[in-house]
Amino acid sequence: MPLDIDTRDQLLETVRRFVREKCVPIESKVGEEDRVPDSVIAEMRELGLFGISIPTEYGGLGLTMEEEVLVAMELGHTSPAFRSVIGTNVGIGSQGVVMFGTDAQKKEWLPKLASGEIVASFALTEPEAGSDAASVRTTAIPDGDHYIVNGTKRFITNANRAGMFTLMARSDPDRKGAGGISAFIVPASTPGVSVGKPEKKMGQQGAHICDVNFDNARVPANLRLGKEGEGFKVAMQVLDRGRLHISGVCVGVAERLIQESVKYAREREQFGQKIGEFQLIQGMLADCKTEAYAARCMVLDAAQKRDRGENVTMEAACAKYFASEMVGRVADKAVQIFGGAGYVADYGIERFYRDVRIFRLYEGTSQIQQLVIARGLLRGE
Ligand code: CAA
Repeated sequence: MPLDIDTRDQLLETVRRFVREKCVPIESKVGEEDRVPDSVIAEMRELGLFGISIPTEYGGLGLTMEEEVLVAMELGHTSPAFRSVIGTNVGIGSQGVVMFGTDAQKKEWLPKLASGEIVASFALTEPEAGSDAASVRTTAIPDGDHYIVNGTKRFITNANRAGMFTLMARSDPDRKGAGGISAFIVPASTPGVSVGKPEKKMGQQGAHICDVNFDNARVPANLRLGKEGEGFKVAMQVLDRGRLHISGVCVGVAERLIQESVKYAREREQFGQKIGEFQLIQGMLADCKTEAYAARCMVLDAAQKRDRGENVTMEAACAKYFASEMVGRVADKAVQIFGGAGYVADYGIERFYRDVRIFRLYEGTSQIQQLVIARGLLRGE
C-alpha cells in the first residue's frame, strides 16, 4: 500500500534533514577515514532506513518502488558511501528473501534486516563470473538435508559487516549455465565462511567490498531460496529491482552536483563577472539539468510501472543505463565548472567524480544494460 501523500512527504523531509544535517557535514571525513561513523549508522537504524523495502508485517516500512526511489534520490544528495551502508539490506541482500522466501525464512530473517540488527550481502560475482553471471563456479552440492558450499565470491558489498549472504551457487555441477544455479541464505557465522580484507577502491570510501570464501560450508536445505535450479532467476529479479534503486541514487547525486555547480557559478568571478553569466557555463548547467530531469522522469515512470505489477526488466535496464551514464557526464561538467577547484580535494567535487564511476559498473555494466534492452527489443517486448 502506498503511503498517503502527507506521510510520504514527511518521510522524505526527515531523510532530507538527516542527509543535510548529519551526512553532508562529515562526507569529506568519511572519504578520508574510509569509515561511516557508528553513530550515523545507529541513526539510520532509528530512522528505519535499513527496512524501507521490507514489508511492514516484518518490521520494515514497506515502501512502494516509487517511494523507495524517492528516498534513494534524497540519499544521493550526499556521498553515496552513506547509502551503501543500508543499500544491501534495502536491495540486493534482502529482496531474494522478500520475493522468494518461505514464511519461515521471512519470519526468521526479515525483521533483523529491517531493523539493521544484521546486514545482508548479495554474493553472486566471482573472480571468473562478473557480467557473465550464469557462469558461477561456486558449488552447493546436496548432502542429505544440507548443501556443501565451496568457492570464492568477489567484490561483495558490505561483506565485512554481513550477518547473512544471499548466495548464488551451482547445485548441479553437471549443468552448465543458468539452469544449474540455486540461491541460498547463508548465515555469515556458518563454519567454513570467511571474509577477506576490504579492497582499496577508486571512490565511495566508507563503503566496502570484500572476497567471501566458502570452504566446505554446510548450509541447511531449508535455507534454499526458491526451487533448486532457479537461483539465476532469483538473482536477475533481485537485480531488476536493484537497478531502479541505483538509478534513483544517480539522480540524487546529479542533483547535488548541479546545486553545487550553480552555487559556485554564482560566487566565482572571472573577467570581472560571475562565471554564471557566461553562456558557455550556462550551457553546461542547462545540459546537466536536462539530463538529470530526464533520468528522474525515467526512474519514476519505471518504478510506477513496477508498482502496478508490470515486468520492468527493460525499463530498469534503460533507467540504470541512462542514469549512471548521465551522472558521469554531470560529474565531469561539475569538475569543469569548478575549474582547478574541481580537481582539488577540499571542494569535494573530485570525490563525487570518483564516487559515481562505479554506478556504470555494478549491478550490471552499461554494456550489460544495453544487451538486456536490445535482447528485449529483438524478442518483441
Ligand atoms: N527476470 C527473470 N528471469 C530472467 C531475467 C530476469 N530479469 N533475466 C534472465 N532471466 C532468465 C531467462 O528467462 C532464462 O530462463 P530460461 O532458461 O528458463 O529461458 C535464464 O534466466 C537465463 O537467461 P539468459 O539466457 O538471458 O542468461 P545469460 O547468461 O545470457 O545472461 C545477462 C543474461 C543479462 C547477461 C545476465 O548474466 C546479467 O544480468 N549479467 C550481469 C550481472 C550483474 O548485474 N552482476 C552484478 C552483481 S551484483 C553487484 O554488482 C553488487 C555488488 O555487491 C558489487
